Amino acid sequence: MNNIKACIFDLDGVIVDTAVYHYKAWKRLAAGLGFDFSEHDNERLKGVSRMRSLEIVLECGGVTKTDAEKEQLAAQKNTWYTEMINQMTPAEILPGAQEFVQSCRDAGIKTALGSASKNSMTILNKLNIVNLFDAIIDGNKVSKAKPDPEVFLKGAEELSIEPQFCVVFEDAIAGVEAAKAGGMKAVGIGDANILHEADMVVSGLDKVTLEQLEILP
Ligand code: G6P
Ligand code: MG
Repeated sequence: MNNIKACIFDLDGVIVDTAVYHYKAWKRLAAGLGFDFSEHDNERLKGVSRMRSLEIVLECGGVTKTDAEKEQLAAQKNTWYTEMINQMTPAEILPGAQEFVQSCRDAGIKTALGSASKNSMTILNKLNIVNLFDAIIDGNKVSKAKPDPEVFLKGAEELSIEPQFCVVFEDAIAGVEAAKAGGMKAVGIGDANILHEADMVVSGLDKVTLEQLEILP
């Protein structure tokens, strides 16, 4: 594998499905504010930062809040969210995820995590997979949200690999855009009609092989 030297993985929706916990916490927050937050609207929050997610939720309910109130609401949501992720176990790792990341390492390909979540370390610890990654870039290390490529470029930099030799695995449109904006290859995890900017789309890491990565454009 000469053309692939590093694989960078998003966390939520690629390694583990935390979207359901984010959704429950946002729904609870919305209910407290007097409106319902639908699963359909929740799709808009994928890959989006906590504060931007709150703004979208408030927009859906037609509610306006001051900056100070928003800080407090985002903190409340995070308290409920962390209560749930603290109960997670390795059984919640998505099918094939651990095996695929390990197969990269076995083939001499460097691995990194590139996630917007400030809770990444808690989740990786709960899943017992911190050691699967040579570098971990999370929401605490970046200032610009996806589709800005900062999170992935920092990952490549920590691994000392140039962007054109990196493949990013992403379930969010903004994440695929970030990878492409960073000059990297992108494998979409999910629906090819939605992630059409990706170089290749699969339903999960159980459906991709290192051989397939070699032939990416
Ligand atoms: C990921 C998820 C988003 C979430 C964001 C921030 O990108 O896909 O839904 O809002 O991380 O997560 P955090 O754990 O920092 O609130
Ligand atoms: Mg994601």
